[in-house]
Amino acid sequence: MTEAWWPPEGEGGDRPRPAGAGSVRVRVPAKINLYLGVGPLRGDGYHEVSTVYHAISLYDELTARRGDTLTLTMEGEGAGELPLDESNLIMRAARELADYAGVRAHARLHLRKQIPLAGGLAGGSADAAATLVACDALWGTGLSREELAVIAGRIGSDVPFLVHGGTALGTGRGEAVSPVLARAGSWHWVVTLADGGLATPEVYAQIDRMRAAGEAPRSVDAPDDLLAALRQRDPAVLGAALGNDLQPAALALWPALGKTLSAGLEAGALAAIVSGSGPSCVFLARDRPGAEKLAADLAAAGVCRAARTAHGPVAGARIV
Ligand code: C5P
Repeated sequence: MTEAWWPPEGEGGDRPRPAGAGSVRVRVPAKINLYLGVGPLRGDGYHEVSTVYHAISLYDELTARRGDTLTLTMEGEGAGELPLDESNLIMRAARELADYAGVRAHARLHLRKQIPLAGGLAGGSADAAATLVACDALWGTGLSREELAVIAGRIGSDVPFLVHGGTALGTGRGEAVSPVLARAGSWHWVVTLADGGLATPEVYAQIDRMRAAGEAPRSVDAPDDLLAALRQRDPAVLGAALGNDLQPAALALWPALGKTLSAGLEAGALAAIVSGSGPSCVFLARDRPGAEKLAADLAAAGVCRAARTAHGPVAGARIV
């Protein structure tokens, strides 16, 4: 009746590859936060968080091929905008893995991107997770998913979750993840993409300012209601338990998101929240046809650049 996610290994063929595979293709999902409780700012510049991550079926794809140096090319969302130099999380992930495993960071990497940049869906973190899985197979370094998750934590707070996928509780700055017990089956979502992005550090800084001015509540409690809702199959119960402490900050920085959220609720969404630091928004539907209708209504309402249906939970970065 209940099962623990991490989703089954092997979904999409998570076969260990022999050292020296010529080409490896990895698919990686976007994440949403079903719940994001933000605590105080720590001495290291991060906020203590208590979050429930959920991987959804909106994917980027990374292909790694043998090469004499480390190169990155891309197509899709953000092409021409996203820097492909050493500042890219993909390059950082490849170098971190090579250092850890004591191999040379030689690969030709190509990204096909559907997850928007700076959208609150952890697209950059997802690409870093995909790089770790792809280069581990390409170079034959044979690390366990747990080892990859440790390296992932050095690259960004959301990266370890995207190595695993599924639905998971995140603590610390978000890098400490453990699977959540949930009933089998899928939830159906609509994700709206915005025209532009929000920088995560600015959204965190905004919530600090709003809290100091008494304009936003202190951290929401532990995600007990949300975890209980995940053990039921009732989308209305789940919808009532969704929560995001960063939402007031994202709305302050991007007021038009208020219209996007209310358009979704008027169109019949069971719940509507900003995804992570925004500006993407997430809407819960009762079922797949409900999600398709909701996406069409949101696109027609002119309150977003695009609306996509997705289901979750899905596996994290996996070889296809
Ligand atoms: O971990 P990551 O590099 O993705 O974080 C980006 C930025 O988001 C951090 O530099 C910090 O400003 C903010 N952040 C935070 N608290 C967290 C996670 C991220 O303040 N738990």
